[in-house]
Amino acid sequence: MPIETTATVVAEVPDDPDLLAVPYSADLQTAHPVELHLPVPDLLAHYEAKGEAGEIVEVPVARAGGATPRVGRVLLYGVGDGSPRALRKAGAALSRRVKGRDRLTVVTPEGDVAAFAEAALLAAYSFRIGESGKKAVRTLAFAGADEEAVRRAQTVAQAVALARDLANTPSSVKNPAWLAERAAESGVPVRVWDEEQLQADGFGGILAVGRGSASPPRLIQLSYTPAEPTDRHIVLVGKGITFDSGGLSLKPTENMKTQKTDMAGGAVVIAVLGALARLGARVKVTGLVAAAENMPSGTAQRPSDVITHYGGRTVEVLNTDAEGRLVMADALAYADAVLDPDAVVDIATLTGAISVALGRNVGAVYASDDVLAKQLLEAGEVTDDRLWRMPLIDDYTPALESSIADLSNVEAGSRFGAGSITAALFLREFTGGRPWAHLDIAGVGRSTVDEGTLSKGATGFGVRVLLDWLTRA
Ligand code: BES
Ligand code: MN
Ligand code: ZN
Repeated sequence: MPIETTATVVAEVPDDPDLLAVPYSADLQTAHPVELHLPVPDLLAHYEAKGEAGEIVEVPVARAGGATPRVGRVLLYGVGDGSPRALRKAGAALSRRVKGRDRLTVVTPEGDVAAFAEAALLAAYSFRIGESGKKAVRTLAFAGADEEAVRRAQTVAQAVALARDLANTPSSVKNPAWLAERAAESGVPVRVWDEEQLQADGFGGILAVGRGSASPPRLIQLSYTPAEPTDRHIVLVGKGITFDSGGLSLKPTENMKTQKTDMAGGAVVIAVLGALARLGARVKVTGLVAAAENMPSGTAQRPSDVITHYGGRTVEVLNTDAEGRLVMADALAYADAVLDPDAVVDIATLTGAISVALGRNVGAVYASDDVLAKQLLEAGEVTDDRLWRMPLIDDYTPALESSIADLSNVEAGSRFGAGSITAALFLREFTGGRPWAHLDIAGVGRSTVDEGTLSKGATGFGVRVLLDWLTRA
């Protein structure tokens, strides 16, 4: 479900609000335009407040207005050093604190209001099937905030929420055709290849991965054209495996039960394409989602099969669980051959190995182009979708040699290792030498905690960094 909290801007703090949030900094001073009639520094000292971001001191206050006197609450909230990161923490903590309430009026802090509001909205996200659980706060009213910043925060947060919703949806509901229907609701023109059309155009990778499933694969193309004509064209490619059982190279239950989110990259592409118009992006963007369900069955591809990708390259499939790169290869080859992009960025929950390397908070970016890498790293810092650049180590390319095909999809032995790097090297083979970046989000695509801007399950990682990057270009 989308974020149910509405962010609004009010010119001034109303008289006697039930819930009022007021920022304070490390010196325990509140710099704000409202008279609280409270000994704020003494109160903060009493509660041993330090001014850290995320800290909240809640003070009951008598409120006038209405027939009978009421008890309202002032939430004094710490903003730490006032940096965007600190404001995110503060915003998330506030919105979590007022869960279930109707309205919180927020005296807006100094600094990056968009980051603050965005985090408050993201912290209000939850995915529920049924009516259990506490509802998020209904309205966050930001007093004196820049309207445009709050509107932008709302757009970005809703895009992240959409990506989370798609990825959190159980695979009994979502299959490749369902994903194509959701893409068609994004507000941009969509073209969908069904099985027959995939066959006709030679998308052998997507077909091979989808063969084992009762739900056939799809390739989904979304096209954003800016209002002002432009020559600059970016292609985004997302992995859309609606469930990854591993195929005949079957995963054990523990590893399989998280794999409904194996289309998280595709979900990010759909959510990003849907938000570009509202954010006024000035580049042309084409999104491709390579969607298939990876299942074992009598029709499934086998370890040792050889497949032919879009454009004619052959691959020996030594492990059917390395399926992401097979569907991505088709889409990357198609982008290069047909779409003539200036740059291609793909995003995929590609390898368990990357969560060993970078853990759950930082995503991997591989890039064939230093400028592109730098831009994405910067966008990652600004948006808190943090990225770390990983190397494309050429010495490891022999890992993907096959004696009977152009490539194999995994290393036959264990001479090279480096599972995330070799996966990236495999993808690079299909990019036609264009400026290309690959985001491996297998570590960051899911959260195990309900904390800060995250909720358990899908994170929507990639939406914020890509939207920031695309709206700067
Ligand atoms: N979807 C998985 C990667 C993954 C693992 C995502 C854990 C999120 C959490 C991918 O398709 C996969 O199975 N990769 C294999 C590659 C291996 C067979 C070379 C892996 O990482 O084990
Ligand atoms: Mn797999
Ligand atoms: Zn997978």
